[in-house]
Amino acid sequence: MTIVAPDAEGLRRAVDLLHRESVVAFPTETVYGLGAHAFSAKAIAEVYRLKNRPLWNPLIVHVANVAAARALAQEWPDAANDLSAQFWPGPLTLVLERARQLTRVGAPIDTIAVRVPAHDVALKLLEASGLPLAAPSANRSEGISPTTAEHVLRSLPEVPLILDGGPASWGIESTVLDLTGPMPKLLRPGALGLRALREVTGAIALPDEVVDGTARSSPGLGRRHYAPKARVIMAKEVSSVDHGSLAGPVAVLSYESVEDFADAQVAEVLSADPREYAADLYAALHRLDDAGVGTIIVQAPPETEEWLAVRDRLRRAAA
Ligand code: TXA
Ligand code: MG
Repeated sequence: MTIVAPDAEGLRRAVDLLHRESVVAFPTETVYGLGAHAFSAKAIAEVYRLKNRPLWNPLIVHVANVAAARALAQEWPDAANDLSAQFWPGPLTLVLERARQLTRVGAPIDTIAVRVPAHDVALKLLEASGLPLAAPSANRSEGISPTTAEHVLRSLPEVPLILDGGPASWGIESTVLDLTGPMPKLLRPGALGLRALREVTGAIALPDEVVDGTARSSPGLGRRHYAPKARVIMAKEVSSVDHGSLAGPVAVLSYESVEDFADAQVAEVLSADPREYAADLYAALHRLDDAGVGTIIVQAPPETEEWLAVRDRLRRAAA
């Protein structure tokens, strides 16, 4: 039995594993993370092994408060002050220059990504362990991120302990912002929208990828990612897709009704509100995988900025 309640006993077991340089999956407000002592080479190696994650892809370090984040950074720019005051705890990851005395967290780079998660269980675990916790999403590399403890168990059955904090409230990963250059730069669109960020920082540079859908931004953003087992096809008009040649069963994932697509054997109809849609997206993809569908036809969401993170994930799922 690896899924445990996040009560005093569950937390004690989790802290014990972390102190022994093992790993623990825990809930955050975005998705579940696979946590490890950020500066234990042994624990970090276990994270990469369990996820089958490429070694060049760095990890986000989770800390309990702003002071702990600051201690990991060589430079703490004004923007980091303003953004952390406004959005932490919360779904924003800041990339900063890593403090010189610290060893790297996985990938061989001089920067460090940090955030303070807005989840009671995550914060309790950070406080009780007294450790900065590196935590990528708790799924096999390129798979769908987990928004429940059961998702983690199915993707990473070898994880010794999973703290169950219920379904993640945002359901999509944090926004990753690089503060090492002259202008804040978006590396990964995520839960926190650009409009809210701009109100604090002013202009934000967008990666080419967001603008034209080609180049790579965040090192971890390989083109294919967040992918279910089924083939994913994006279409403006679901009903216009000729499904005759598609591997079945064929499923439709839409944000409007699907009465036009009578041939779909399975349908997931999500909200037309981007935040609600994002919260349900990964769970819907997990359900479609469980249903064993061969193809998922996804109704392409609107081209507006509010849908940026959702479009990004769907594009990668379809790549
Ligand atoms: O919401 C989240 O961010 C979740 C929860 C568990 O906190 N974590 C998460 O981690 O999504 P992961 O490893 O699945 O994605 C981290 C992303 C990757 O694209 C990685 O390349 C990027 O952040 N990243 C990490 N450290 C970086 C750094 N120093 N510079 C640039 N990108 C970095
Ligand atoms: Mg991930």
